[in-house]
Amino acid sequence: MTERTLVLIKPDGVARNLVGDIIGRIERKGLTLRALELKQVSDELARGHYAEHEGKPFFGSLLEFITSGPLVAAVVEGPRAIAAWRQIAGGTDPVEKAVPGTIRGDYALVTQENLVHGSDSPESAEREIALWFPELG
Ligand code: TYD
Ligand code: MG
Repeated sequence: MTERTLVLIKPDGVARNLVGDIIGRIERKGLTLRALELKQVSDELARGHYAEHEGKPFFGSLLEFITSGPLVAAVVEGPRAIAAWRQIAGGTDPVEKAVPGTIRGDYALVTQENLVHGSDSPESAEREIALWFPELG
């Protein structure tokens, strides 16, 4: 079943010059890029994207981080793309959850600076794609 998911390479991934590596992993898995953009995110877009986390203790610093520099946003498509991309990304905590071989497991140490985002369900994917790429929604 073909799915679409929203991928972000967060500002730490861009600052650390990991964009090529991360896009390469997406392509080598067999997933297809449908949209790709380098973008400086507004506070409004950041709040919309992370609406589910509003009120949590890390929300303020998450907004600050995600707006701290340019990021890469992409729409990625393929069979089971949502789960496939979250598998490549690794668990949220890059040390306790992400295993070596995943992006977070290989390159990250701190939960906030965990390099990438992936939609967590078909409903989230459609909502996030409409938010980031209205022309594709
Ligand atoms: P979440 O949606 O739970 O994780 P994921 O990105 O794996 O879907 O959280 C969103 C982001 O918020 C997460 O990537 C990093 C940050 N975060 C923290 O900084 N501290 C935390 O305790 C959690 C759960 C998340
Ligand atoms: Mg999430």
